[in-house]
Amino acid sequence: MFDALIGQSPNFESMLRSAKMVAATDVTVLIAGETGTGKEVLANALQSHSPRVDKPFITLNCAALPESLAESELFGHRKGAFTGAVSNQLGRLQAADEGTLFMDEVDSLPLPLQAKLLRFLETGEIQPVGDTHTQRVDVRVIAATNVSLEEKIAKGEFRKDLYYRLNVVPLEIPPLRERMGDIHLLLNHFMGRFADEHKLPGSIFSKSALSRLQTYAWPGNVRELRNVCERLSILLAGRTIDEGNLPMEILHRAAPAKTVFALPEIGIELEKVEIDLIQQALARTNGNRSRSARLLGISRDTLLYRMQKHGIN
Ligand SMILES: Nc1ncnc2c1ncn2[C@@H]1O[C@H](COP(=O)(O)OP(=O)(O)OP(=O)(O)O)[C@@H](O)[C@H]1O
Ligand SMILES: [Mg+2]
Repeated sequence: MFDALIGQSPNFESMLRSAKMVAATDVTVLIAGETGTGKEVLANALQSHSPRVDKPFITLNCAALPESLAESELFGHRKGAFTGAVSNQLGRLQAADEGTLFMDEVDSLPLPLQAKLLRFLETGEIQPVGDTHTQRVDVRVIAATNVSLEEKIAKGEFRKDLYYRLNVVPLEIPPLRERMGDIHLLLNHFMGRFADEHKLPGSIFSKSALSRLQTYAWPGNVRELRNVCERLSILLAGRTIDEGNLPMEILHRAAPAKTVFALPEIGIELEKVEIDLIQQALARTNGNRSRSARLLGISRDTLLYRMQKHGIN
């Protein structure tokens, strides 16, 4: 099931390695990542690699819950607990007993419920609305968010204690623009898959189209890339796809992706980074200046100039 997650970039693979390790445990997992990065796919993979694979896997989208119904949805209610409670009703946690509850968009959970969820995570006990007794349920929780919970905490919209409890093992899926090496892999995967699925001849990308796709920032991440592939594999079946065939948003915004290197919070010393990169390039090419220049995306003359400037031999 982890096979469903395509990607070989070091940051993606390191996230996957952690995911494989926690899959087999009962530990609470918090999956963070921008929209379309595959949080739901990852949650499914975690469940299917866990000992709970044959037990219920229940999904609760916390953003789709009206606040008035949220508590009853999660914990269930007793008949007569409130107007309209005509019979006893199980909540998602009881439905997931012995299995897994996937709490999607957990950042949207109303504050009072956050406290109740925390109590469940700490004691394993729940109290249905209108019930005087608590019950034990055995549920592994996988939560997901596409916004920064730290920011929500700062604004007083998310409980810090719940955050720490959920975040026992954080799995952060990097956005596509931070693993641009995976774009080509994903394009091949989806173009092949959609040609098969729709029983159409395959298409290939021209060099310039491929380069546009590889430098586009993909704000909708893998979901956006997948949709583009599905469209192109149908409309241009069996053809060579050229730059001009690409969707407008890609042609207009195919400026190099915003972040190649993420600037650390504490800042950097640009000059040192430059020296370091030049030295790494030289080491990797056994001192070959032409190949080093190519690795750095500059001309040989520029490289020689910069080496001299920094006193690198
Ligand atoms: N690494 C990946 N390999 C293959 N397919 C992927 C990968 N990541 C995402 N996808 C595909 O992209 C689409 C979106 O994935 P998913 O629904 O899991 O995203 P999400 O992170 O839950 O997004 P949202 O925050 O919008 O709910 C799905 O069709 C999924 O199959
Ligand atoms: Mg999702």
